[in-house]
Amino acid sequence: MNHILDDTHGRRTGPGVTPLAALDTASILEAYRRWAGIYDSSFGSVSAVARRRAVRAVNQLPGIDVLEVGVGTGLALPSYDQDKRITGIDLSVDMLQQARRKVAEKGLHRVEALLEMDAEATDFPDNSFDTAVAMFVASVVPHPRLLLAEMRRVVRPGGTILFVNHFAARRGPRWWVERAMAPASRALGWHPDFAVEALFAPEDLASVTLTAMPPLGIFTLAHLAN
Ligand SMILES: C[S@@+](CC[C@H](N)C(=O)[O-])C[C@H]1O[C@@H](n2cnc3c(N)ncnc32)[C@H](O)[C@@H]1O
Repeated sequence: MNHILDDTHGRRTGPGVTPLAALDTASILEAYRRWAGIYDSSFGSVSAVARRRAVRAVNQLPGIDVLEVGVGTGLALPSYDQDKRITGIDLSVDMLQQARRKVAEKGLHRVEALLEMDAEATDFPDNSFDTAVAMFVASVVPHPRLLLAEMRRVVRPGGTILFVNHFAARRGPRWWVERAMAPASRALGWHPDFAVEALFAPEDLASVTLTAMPPLGIFTLAHLAN
């Protein structure tokens, strides 16, 4: 688990809740326009195991209707069970284009819709889904807590919210590397210095289950009952 620790003088000793370099909609669209063609063979493959485990967790949950937030190039789509009904949303048309191609090529009938939509303010009515899952998206969106609030709104009471993400280390060499990479956030399209507290308020953290994922625990699966 990652937490910001205060030292005995109350100073921050871990990563800041606010990342050093802000990402806005324009920089996200620009970054993923560049990523779209190479995503699957680069970050997509590094994150494959964690993504597969997240989808396995979704498949084990009750309920049919699943919202995949920030569906990207659709790497997760072939792994959902046949009895799930998947709606994928993403801000980037370039990433969605890749996802639509996969759905057509692989005949993925469990994919109900792939929609261009802002995950922080969707068009869905309250309680539309049994499950919402966001894989490697929380450290990309401009306002992670708005993302969580929107996922809570569109998932029915008793449903489940899942995230897989990289969360910044608290200290040590990894923390220094992440801090050093932070100024490149806009070019990367994600925040290397993204603290778990940027997504979860203290009252949420108390009820979230965090599980380290491969490779080397650099990703975390976060499981939250709605
Ligand atoms: C690192 S990629 C992850 C893609 C996919 N979830 C995966 O497992 O590979 C982040 C994705 O989040 C999308 N994204 C960023 N901000 C978003 C927002 N506000 N609403 C919807 N999608 C967003 C990006 O366009 C991009 O496709």
